[in-house]
This record gives sequence, C-alpha cells and structure tokens, in this order.
Amino acid sequence: MYIPEEKISEILNTSDIVDVISETVILKKSGRNFFGLCPFHSEKTPSFSVNASKQIFHCFGCTAGGNVLSFIMKYHGITFPEAAKMLARRYNITIETKEIDPAKRRELHLKEGLFRLNKTVMGVYFDELKNLNPGDKASKYLKQRDISEDIIQQFRLGFAPDNWESIVKVLRDRKISKNMAVQCGLILERKQKTGYYDRFRNRIMFPIFDVNMQVAGFGGRVMDDAMPKYMNSPETPVYNKSRILYGLHAAKQFCRQAGFVYIVEGYFDFLSLYQHGIKNTVASLGTALTPDHVRILKGYASRIVLVFDSDAAGISAAKRSIKIFLKEGVDTRVLVLPEGDDPDSYVVKHGHEAFNELAKNAKTIMQFLLQVSIDTHGLSVEGRIRILDDMKQQLILIQDSALRSLYVKELAETLNIDEKAVLEKVRELYLNRTAKRSSLIDEKKDDDKLESDRREEQMISLMLNYPEIIDEIKNREVLDYFYSEKLKRIAKKIISVDPGKKAFITDVMARMETNEDQEFIASYAMNDSASEDIRKTALSLMNRIIRVRTKQENTLNSKIISAEKGCDSDLMDLLKQKQAEIQQLHDRF
Ligand code: GTP
Ligand code: MN
Repeated sequence: MYIPEEKISEILNTSDIVDVISETVILKKSGRNFFGLCPFHSEKTPSFSVNASKQIFHCFGCTAGGNVLSFIMKYHGITFPEAAKMLARRYNITIETKEIDPAKRRELHLKEGLFRLNKTVMGVYFDELKNLNPGDKASKYLKQRDISEDIIQQFRLGFAPDNWESIVKVLRDRKISKNMAVQCGLILERKQKTGYYDRFRNRIMFPIFDVNMQVAGFGGRVMDDAMPKYMNSPETPVYNKSRILYGLHAAKQFCRQAGFVYIVEGYFDFLSLYQHGIKNTVASLGTALTPDHVRILKGYASRIVLVFDSDAAGISAAKRSIKIFLKEGVDTRVLVLPEGDDPDSYVVKHGHEAFNELAKNAKTIMQFLLQVSIDTHGLSVEGRIRILDDMKQQLILIQDSALRSLYVKELAETLNIDEKAVLEKVRELYLNRTAKRSSLIDEKKDDDKLESDRREEQMISLMLNYPEIIDEIKNREVLDYFYSEKLKRIAKKIISVDPGKKAFITDVMARMETNEDQEFIASYAMNDSASEDIRKTALSLMNRIIRVRTKQENTLNSKIISAEKGCDSDLMDLLKQKQAEIQQLHDRF
C-alpha cells in the first residue's frame, strides 16, 4: 500500500500528538511539555515528554522519539502505512491510494496470495490435529511434551498426516493453483513431472507468523527419532529467515513491558516458556541470528538475553551470534543453562520462578566470553596472555567507545592485568600500527570530534527551535563547514523545509527517512536551551563553526607546504594521513 506524500502531511497536520498519546500514556503538563511514564522502557519517574506545539515526543531515558506516526508504529509494532491508515481512520481522512508501478503491484499480489494460501493450509493442519483421537500418536506426543490446549489453540499447532498427497488433494478440491503452493514450499513437483507431493508428512506442524500475524511459513517435527528432526519451509517471498523470529507476534507486547527479551533456539523452548508465563521470548529456530534480527528486537526491548544449552554446540552457537550483538551495541546477556537442560526441559522441571532466578545471573557478553576463554586456556601466565589475545579480537568489534572501555576495565580486573596494557593491546590491533603514536593521535582526534559534534548539534537544535536563523545559515553556507557527514545530511534536510511554515518541525520530521534520524530530531527539538538573544547566539556559533574548520585546515595545509619545501617526505605523508584520518573520523558515525 502506497500513501501519497500529501496525505501524510494532511494526516500529520490534522492529528494531535497529545490526544493520541494520552490514550495509552497518562500525561501531566509541566512547563511547556507533557510528561508521563515511558511506554518503551520501564521506569518509575516520568522521563517521557510530549510537546504539543512541536508535535513530537521524546524520552529522556531511552531516547525513543519522533512524531505521532513514529509513536503509533513503535507502540503497536506496525508499519508506516499501517500507522498512517490508523490515524487517517481516527480523523476521518480518506486515503485514495495512488497507482503503483506494475512490477510492485505484481509482487504485492503474489505476497498476498502466498500469505492467504499459508493461512488456508494452517487451518487444514490445525483441523487435522483437532480431529485426531486422544490415543493417536500426534495427540499423545504433544501431551507427553506438556503442551496445553491453550497453547495449541493460540499458536495454531497442527498435524500433517502421514500421506504424500494430503495438501495436494486439498488444493485440487478447492481449485487452488499448484504453482502457488510450490512457491510457498508446501508441495514439490515429482521428478518425472507426473504430479506433486507434500513437503510435510507425518509431522507436528508449527505455523511461523510474522509480526503482523500473517503466516509466513511452517516448521514440522517428527514424533520419533526419524531424521531430519525438524523441517522448515524454504525461503519464499514472504518467508525471509534473516528477519523472522518465531513467536515475536505474540511476545512483542510482553517484551515492551519487561524491557527485555529472551532468545531461545527451538519451537518447544518458546512454547514451553510461554506456557509457563515467560512470554517475553522469541525463538531463532536454529538459524544464525542476523543484524536484522537484532535491529528488529531493539524496537521492542532494550536488553536481550540469549539462552543457550551448555553443550559444546550451544557454546559455539553463542560465540557465533555474539559478534552481531557486540557490533549492534545492544545490552546483551548470556544465560547458559545447567548441563543437560534446554529452556523447555528446564522450565518444565523447575518452573518459571527458577528460570527467572537463573536469568538474573545471566552473564554479560564479556563475562561469558571470558569464562569460555578461561575454561579453555586456564589462568596461568601463558593462559592469561592467550585469553587477552582471544578477548581483544572481540573487543575491537564494539563500536561504542564508552562501552568498550567498560569491558576493557572488566577484563583487566579479571585477569589482574593493568588496564592500560589491555587498552594498548586492543588499540594495537585496532590501528594495526605502532601502539604509542596511534594512541596519542587517536585521543586528540576523539576530542576534536566531540567538540565539533557538539557545535554542530547545537546548531541543529537552534535551527529546529528558531527557524528564523535558517536564512542566515544558507547565506553563509555554514553547512559546508560541518565535519560530521551525518549531521550535515540531517541539517541539509532541515534547511530544505520552508522556515516560515507554521508546522515547521512536523515537516522536518516527515522528511526524516529512518527511525534513528527521527529520534535525533525529536531529541534536539525538545532540547531548547533558550537564551536571551537567539540571534547573537546563533551568529557566534556559526562563526565558530566556520573559523575552526578553516583554521584547522590552514594549519595542516601550511605544515604540509613547509614539509614539502623541506623535502621531509615522511612528515608529509604523516600530515596527509592525518588530514585524511580527521575527515574519515568525522565521516564515521
Ligand atoms: P526438541 O527435541 O523438539 O525439544 O527440539 P529442540 O528445540 O530442543 O531441538 P534442538 O536444540 O535440536 O534444535 C533447536 C531448533 O533448531 C529447532 O527448534 C529447530 O528449529 C532447529 N532444528 C533442529 N533440528 C533440525 C533439523 O534437523 N533441521 C532443521 N532444518 N532445523 C532443525
Ligand atoms: Mn528441546
């Protein structure tokens, strides 16, 4: 569904963010803003703020922020067009959809067809299971695994009969295209092209829902020791394994409430935990977790707890997926279960309180990796050197420097090695140059960057709150002097909006393409440190931005020129490299 730009503007201009948010969050007016308890993280004192005149929200605690559409998307876990439709309905705005291009339309059409067929087949498997006798193998199997009627009902578990053509027959009877079912991965064509046969036979069936509750695919388990134990739908246009997490459609609201999410591996692990009341859980279904998975989960919880079996396979799975969590910079804990248990068997044996208790002691990623490394190398002098070598590989993956230094500290304490030495090792690897020189340059560069970011962010904050200064910014081409490419990109979008417009921030917000950019705008729009003379403040900030950059470039240039004159090619290279590094550093975000 494609909603024209003008409609989005109309929806944004008609709706009122305070009205909309008041329905789900209790807001109290305080000064120019409304405050309430943030629905996106757990807190006891309100740091979630809403500003009526700017039509934005921003949480000072978890940095969630945006306009009324981003709020609805995040709160209900729905897509942009869905949120727009929801608001349009509420304010009686009719959306006539624009013609979309034929290729896109065909794709949407195909997807709808695949979803519809999956849903039909889910119903077939579900009925098959319901119609079995209590003594039949599948009923006995689920009973023996302690799966309740409610869970079967809610997650629409089913049964694929021991028959090569049961879905083929359903398709024939209901005159549904075989081609569609092949694309869904439900049936396959026989080798001699003499017809089709079912993919899933004699298995307990688990429909896999996407976040919008559409059936994307299936998993099926045998009821004995036959191989393969599980079989899953292949990738299809509606089943993208790198994005789907089993159970998220049901778990999302509980993840928000709890503020964290457990990731387990299997269908039964998920269902068992859910049945025992641990509902903030999703299952990865044995596939490697991807950056997309992590980003999706970050929308629902600020902390992730990976739950693994203690066997070798579990540990190596943990080590593999941890890289992604380090890179994405999300607070991640690792819970390794006692030997011999998986989440399902553990919660069945010991109950949910014991599980939650165990989870309280989940290790941080670094504690976990460290433990694994200690178990491998021991704590002798040589062992500790090897451990340090192991760990520095992981540490350089962490993008967030504050987080990295916390972990360095923890590592240094555990190994009883001087923190500086650990830091040095990490830097050495990171820069792959002589440790000393790089660390000096590095610290200086980080300071410069902090300073310039602060100035440029302040400029953006002023632009948002006092659009009347924008003309001057354009005249003096201030944005050309920005170091940070990210801030420059955002600032350029801001100045593309007519500063005379009444709903200026609303328009700016609508132009931000990513959630991150919206949050950024909300936080800087909310953050207005009104001073006496805005114009003066703005002018002096502009001057500073222009001056610093010009000066820094001049100094470097003149040094390069004199090095050239003195034929000091080493120094010249060093200076040029530094110039490039400074730019690179500012481009990196
Ligand atoms: P149960 O034996 O039913 O309790 O399964 P489990 O979840 O404890 O099994 P396991 O730890 O072996 O597997 C975890 C998840 O990996 C499963 O839920 C499946 O999604 C997936 N998986 C396991 N075995 C297979 C297999 O043979 N083929 C495929 N495609 N996936 C599998
Ligand atoms: Mn199991």
